[in-house]
Amino acid sequence: MSEPLILGIETSCDETGFAVVRGRELLADVTASSMDEHARYGGIVPEVASRAHLEAFVPTLDAALAAADVDLGQLDAIAVTAGPGLVGSLTVGVAGAKALALASGKPLYGVNHVIGHAAVDELVHGKFPDRFVALVVSGGHTSLLLVDDIATGVTELGQTLDDAAGEAFDKVGRLLGLPYPGGPHVDRLSREGDRDAIRFPRGLTSGKDKARHPYDFSFSGLKTAVARYVEAFQDRGEEVPAADVAAGFSEAVADVLVTKALLACERSECDTLVIGGGFSANSRLRELAAERAAAHGVTVRIPPIRYCTDNGAMIAALGSALVRSGAAPSPLDLPTDSGMPL
Ligand code: KG4
Ligand code: ZN
Repeated sequence: MSEPLILGIETSCDETGFAVVRGRELLADVTASSMDEHARYGGIVPEVASRAHLEAFVPTLDAALAAADVDLGQLDAIAVTAGPGLVGSLTVGVAGAKALALASGKPLYGVNHVIGHAAVDELVHGKFPDRFVALVVSGGHTSLLLVDDIATGVTELGQTLDDAAGEAFDKVGRLLGLPYPGGPHVDRLSREGDRDAIRFPRGLTSGKDKARHPYDFSFSGLKTAVARYVEAFQDRGEEVPAADVAAGFSEAVADVLVTKALLACERSECDTLVIGGGFSANSRLRELAAERAAAHGVTVRIPPIRYCTDNGAMIAALGSALVRSGAAPSPLDLPTDSGMPL
């Protein structure tokens, strides 16, 4: 098969995403989001997300097929996120994908969402090099991957031991009284602050912790340090220097992410770093990665932000790579796996 035509389906969290890819070419990508419904609760409500997927499934599918000018009969395969994610959300996507596969007779591929965040970059920046490091950062995950083959050769070097980077930003946003999700607000505020005014801790970057966890992350100590710092001002009835707090906190997170990603590049002899996931919108992460990677002779590839947040294109891209590699399809009793390992 030369250039397989793949439908990708993503429903692991609050975005219902459908996309059509031919080989490494994106033909259509349509996303519906239930974030507006969750925002007033200050976090994702799983039942609300599942119901929203159920409602958006067919209209979003129809929109993607129409935009690609493709019908189900022309597809070579259907790829769907099988995990990790919210079990109720995953179930809607996987059940729908099975129904489509059964009705159309097309093979089904259950794929890993985290790997999808890296895979999508191939649709934007072209074929991957033989070996690269991928940093996937969002509200749900913070993982460092070594990729020899996006379909069959992905090794997890490390991941967060507690909060994801985006989650830590959302918590600090709440501490500073900013709306949910706080990440983009903290980022914006940080641009007005002095990033050297307050030095917050960098988890797992020194001594025994670093030796034992060279590629793992920990943001809970940092989050607690920020909380203590903010509370001390509040207890004294003084105004919190919110912009400096946001800047110092953003610096700590970006510093750790970039330091560990570039260490992985150096030790695995990779000259390419792919960054994906919704957190790659973070302005300080982008700046530091560009600055330090250049000094290390590493090229940074970050897809445009609409392909970094959850979408169907990432799943179609990974499905396409699996089909091209000759991987066997998934059985039709494919389960969801909310904690799916790589
Ligand atoms: O990938 P994504 O859209 O959804 C998840 O799978 O989590 O990532 C969203 C996360 C949220 O935690 C959000 O606050 C954070 O990424 N985020 C940011 C920025 N933009 C989004 N965090 C810091 N700075 C940003 N500019
Ligand atoms: Zn994601």
